[in-house]
Amino acid sequence: MKLYSIFGNPVAHSISPILHNYTFEKLGFNGCYTKILLQEPLLRDKFLELGLTGVNITVPYKEEAFKQADEVLGIAKEIGAVNTWYHKDGKIYAYNTDAPGFYQSIKGFDFKSVLILGAGGTAKAIALYLRHKGYDPVILNRSGKRLTYFWEKGFKAYTWDEFEPRAFDLVINTTSAGLKDNSFPAPKELLDTILPQAKYAVDVIYNKLTPFLALAKSYDLVTKDGTEMLLYQGVLAFEIFTDFRYEKEEISSYMRKALELV
Ligand SMILES: NC(=O)c1ccc[n+]([C@@H]2O[C@H](COP(=O)([O-])OP(=O)(O)OC[C@H]3O[C@@H](n4cnc5c(N)ncnc54)[C@H](OP(=O)(O)O)[C@@H]3O)[C@@H](O)[C@H]2O)c1
Repeated sequence: MKLYSIFGNPVAHSISPILHNYTFEKLGFNGCYTKILLQEPLLRDKFLELGLTGVNITVPYKEEAFKQADEVLGIAKEIGAVNTWYHKDGKIYAYNTDAPGFYQSIKGFDFKSVLILGAGGTAKAIALYLRHKGYDPVILNRSGKRLTYFWEKGFKAYTWDEFEPRAFDLVINTTSAGLKDNSFPAPKELLDTILPQAKYAVDVIYNKLTPFLALAKSYDLVTKDGTEMLLYQGVLAFEIFTDFRYEKEEISSYMRKALELV
């Protein structure tokens, strides 16, 4: 049997084991996926000690996972953070499936301009992936310290105080505002100017109507929470974990069923 896990802190809330184990069972794959709370960033030691075939990595270890892998593949090299490791032929290969997972979740949206709220790991992944797809996202963050990364990569990035609102087709909340509280990811006055001019609002937080999405709905925008992003990053990780032996559509249909069970 091949063993898989998610590493993070906290990790108890993760539904990834349900998505992966349900799909393993339905596809007849001999695998088991668990969750492991890591108090220290000893990812590589734990991974090898347990003889895992693959892991997903969540908050706060995605940047550490980037550093500790043997080889980083794809857009993750530019992002500097990974959420998936796969052990093959004695090497740990690392990938970022959050970014393409997010992009897949907004397939069908017709947009040109994008505003990203937040400047953390998820914002980096989404901003770089969108640029790779030909967009030029603008970043808006509460504080300035995380903006240097974006300036160095040539993005327009502002704090709330410096920002002059204008029209954006798509507004994405990548902050954790609204996850455990009822706060907005930017001052409400700013959102009340930006959202009425937008077509779409997406929140990467899942299974919850955040104040941000509720406000966007009140302005009749098309809205989406982070459930599909979670689903698609999981589908892509599953493909990697099982060496691309199953069809994406099949994995996706089982993971969607598993989500209904949660
Ligand atoms: N759906 C999915 O599959 C999926 C995948 C990955 C992540 N996520 C979610 O994405 C969120 C962010 O994760 P991350 O790893 O990018 O976090 P992170 O690196 O810690 O970054 C957090 C960002 O949120 C901002 N922020 C935090 N609290 C805020 C508040 N009350 N008001 C305004 N801004 C606030 C921070 O601003 P400062 O710089 O000013 O501190 C920072 O820009 C989490 O909720 C996570 O669960 C979802």
